[in-house]
Amino acid sequence: MKKPLKNQTYQLWGGRFEKSPGARLEAFSRSLDFDYRLALADIQGTSAFARALHSVGILSRAELQRALGGLDKLSRDLASAGPDLFRNAPEEDVHTFVLSKLRQRIGGLADKLHTGRSRNEQVALDFRLWLKEAIRSAQVALRGLLTALADAAEKHPTIVLPGYTHLRRAQPILWGHYVLAYFEMFRRDYQRLEACFASADVLPLGSGALAGSGFAFDRDQLAQDLGFSRISRNSLDAVSDRDFALEFLFAASLCMLHLSRLAEDWILYSSEEFGFLELADDVSTGSSLMPQKKNPDSLELIRGKSGRVLGSLVSLATVLKSLPLAYNRDLQEDKEPVFDASAQLIAALDLAAQVVQTATLNPQPMQKAASVGWLCAADLAEFLAERGVPFHQAHQIVGKLVLDQTKAGRQPLDCTLADLKKYSAIFDKTSLPLLTPASGVARRAVPGATAPARVRQALREARTWLKTL
Ligand code: ARG
Repeated sequence: MKKPLKNQTYQLWGGRFEKSPGARLEAFSRSLDFDYRLALADIQGTSAFARALHSVGILSRAELQRALGGLDKLSRDLASAGPDLFRNAPEEDVHTFVLSKLRQRIGGLADKLHTGRSRNEQVALDFRLWLKEAIRSAQVALRGLLTALADAAEKHPTIVLPGYTHLRRAQPILWGHYVLAYFEMFRRDYQRLEACFASADVLPLGSGALAGSGFAFDRDQLAQDLGFSRISRNSLDAVSDRDFALEFLFAASLCMLHLSRLAEDWILYSSEEFGFLELADDVSTGSSLMPQKKNPDSLELIRGKSGRVLGSLVSLATVLKSLPLAYNRDLQEDKEPVFDASAQLIAALDLAAQVVQTATLNPQPMQKAASVGWLCAADLAEFLAERGVPFHQAHQIVGKLVLDQTKAGRQPLDCTLADLKKYSAIFDKTSLPLLTPASGVARRAVPGATAPARVRQALREARTWLKTL
């Protein structure tokens, strides 16, 4: 007769062992401290599995009803439970925890619920159920940011600011055009998450430990019961596939990278050096030493956390690299990066939306920056090219003009027609408006460009798309 397991902790295995695992391994392998987040998904999966067990004759109708009643009650009890309840529990993982708690309610019937089921398929199922919800929450947060960006574009239809390349003033653009560039990035993120949802939306249950279940479950019925649109096609793959998690981490990382670019821009734009915008007090912090400081910590943290989420992507990719088929315990390392990335992503999106909603624009420094630094040079060169001057030559002519005027400390608005004519007789009075940023903006009117009518059109399209979400 083998010794009873330590402290009689409920465990889903043990018959072939004479001793329970050592304390070191037990502590090292314990996952309940983080996989408790899967508790409700686990109960949902176990309830569907109980119905499947009834349909193959393992559970009587009365047993099924009793099991479902117990699971439902457990689910309601756990819905409001914090991490502490799980932290102090002796069970090794969430799957054991759920059955152990159920056993306290419905007795030995709980032991029947794992008939023909492996934790390998169970954890894959729970993780997919959890991730599908997390993706939906991230999309809700993204929608908040997208709406804030559309509002910000709409609020200031005529403000012109410099567009930058190499962080040097390049060409004037409309504020709305600038903001909608970020709208496009986050729209792609939204769509990428939709693709992630489809990848996660595959039922692995019925795969057993690796070879498929020996019980004749109706897997399509199980999929329907659990809200999956498809079932996995290969049991070996199904228990070891974490592509869906990696895809989510990539989508989350890319979204965080987009957030980090916005953060970087606005940290600069809200600095004294730029002065383009002012961040609201409730997304800024002060210094413990320098009383005058108003620091953009919200955006700096968003920028910093983008590194952390990218780290999670690399972490899981490295776990999956070279992993032999099928399930290996390494896969337990899949969850923490995903849980963390999901939490950081949603928090960063919510905060970014608040930053965007509450920022105040300073139109004057923006407009001034757009009219200082010869941002109209390309427009002048294109004016000459339209009138037959080969572009390379036109480029040289305007380059010389900019060189001379810059040396003389003159800006476009200081120039007269006579000044322009010194460089080419082709310049006429219709070229003078080109010296103002607004006309440079208006000239760029192809689809996707910064002309006011195009930006209005882009904004309308953005709003229409937002309504479909
Ligand atoms: N905790 C495990 C995981 O996260 C699931 C249980 C499977 N464990 C096992 N030894 N087969 O992957």
